[in-house]
Amino acid sequence: MAAPLDNPVFGLIGRTAAECGARAYVIGGFVRDHFLGRPCCDIDVVVTGSGVQVAERLGERLGVKVSTFKNFGTAMLRYRGLEIEFVGARKESYRADSRKPVVEDGTLEDDQNRRDFTINAMAFSLNEDDFGELVDPFGGIDDLKAGIIRTPLDPDTTFSDDPLRMVRAIRFATQLGMTVTAECIEAIRRNRERIAIISRERITAETEKIIMSQRPSRGFFLFDKTGLLELVYPDLYRLKGVEKRGGRAHKDNFVHTLKVLDNVAAAGGDEWLRWAALLHDIAKPRTKSWDDRVGWTFHNHEFVGARMVKGIFKAWRLPLDHKMRFVEKMVLLHLRPIALVEDEVTDSAVRRLLFDAGDDIEPLMTLCRADITSGDDRKVARYLRNFDTVESKMRQIEEKDRIRNFQPPISGELIMRTYGIEPCSAVGQIKNAIKDAILDGRIANDYDEAYRLMTELAAEIIPDKKPLA
Ligand code: CTP
Repeated sequence: MAAPLDNPVFGLIGRTAAECGARAYVIGGFVRDHFLGRPCCDIDVVVTGSGVQVAERLGERLGVKVSTFKNFGTAMLRYRGLEIEFVGARKESYRADSRKPVVEDGTLEDDQNRRDFTINAMAFSLNEDDFGELVDPFGGIDDLKAGIIRTPLDPDTTFSDDPLRMVRAIRFATQLGMTVTAECIEAIRRNRERIAIISRERITAETEKIIMSQRPSRGFFLFDKTGLLELVYPDLYRLKGVEKRGGRAHKDNFVHTLKVLDNVAAAGGDEWLRWAALLHDIAKPRTKSWDDRVGWTFHNHEFVGARMVKGIFKAWRLPLDHKMRFVEKMVLLHLRPIALVEDEVTDSAVRRLLFDAGDDIEPLMTLCRADITSGDDRKVARYLRNFDTVESKMRQIEEKDRIRNFQPPISGELIMRTYGIEPCSAVGQIKNAIKDAILDGRIANDYDEAYRLMTELAAEIIPDKKPLA
């Protein structure tokens, strides 16, 4: 492990603090990440005295700009790729209706007390007399080794003071593969209603770190265990449970969804494919019905689910741009490859899938493979083999027909110009019929063949119109 404080800037911070009659410590994420062997460029420095004064003097010395937030008593400067934030050591108390604290000056220990977890409350001294010494009053280093998330104070105080920490406990446990103590889990259950005072953006920012973890399911199971799931992710909460009729049960869609999410994570899926995995069956509770012949059905859950994505993205403050449209598309199409596998794999069906998925065909296939979560290994192996067949067929057809991202060679504009007509249903009908003929392989993806078909179709659909030229 590299020496934690070998960058000369740390010594300089300590000397600058001494000149201001203060002491300085690097605290929090930097110290934790050092012991975890993770690189960290965000450095939090706590100063017993004025953090702003030390930052300003250091900024002058280094010749860099300092941004100060006097109201919060914090200051930040950037130096050679590091972002260094200064804060005066604080003692805080909180009002019940807000996470904005009433702040007083305090000692290093006061400041460590008000931190979220023991693993985040460790500090290294930057002062000449004990430079590099670890100050760890709550056994953060032991907890880090043992993989335990625990609060420095009574967890009811820590979580009630700043309820975002309930979500952070789950985030760190998931991200670092650690365990939240039973005492903390209980305290989160007791304080869970206080999550209402936290902004959605902050909850989503933590959840993004959960879903980007190696095994994101851990986080969502913890949301459930602590009672936060129902409050924070009610749509996911509704996926829970199994209903039985006449001995026939459907699978627990919450458990299934999380398995799919883990599978997508293991396959290296990006953030948006992971949200898609979380939402792919989101409409199952709404579309569930019972059919005496076939048992439980969830007809059209992919269409209904795709329509739910926008509202969910809005509520969760996720971007309403092409990333959301990608998730909608994944939810809408997630059954298509499996339907292909179950039926006979015809060229025409493969072409249609390539056309509808366009450039997103690879992530769609990753999601579909991830969606096979049967407990029956032989069944899983058979499905995955069938997917291989579909994929090799896709490659052949794509090479031959270039369907992916294809624009039909005859546009609506051309049809209108050719026949001197205004936009009307006939134009759409002709255009779609040409597209279908190409996708079905009845004509080639080629201008001349498409033009010929257009004239045949026009003679039937708009017999009174003749080509102008
Ligand atoms: N902190 C806290 N309570 C919070 C947020 C932060 O006590 N709600 C403290 C912790 O000591 C934390 C430090 O502030 O280590 C910095 O917080 P932040 O930058 O949000 O997180 P990191 O711990 O640095 O973790 P990461 O870089 O993974 O976000």
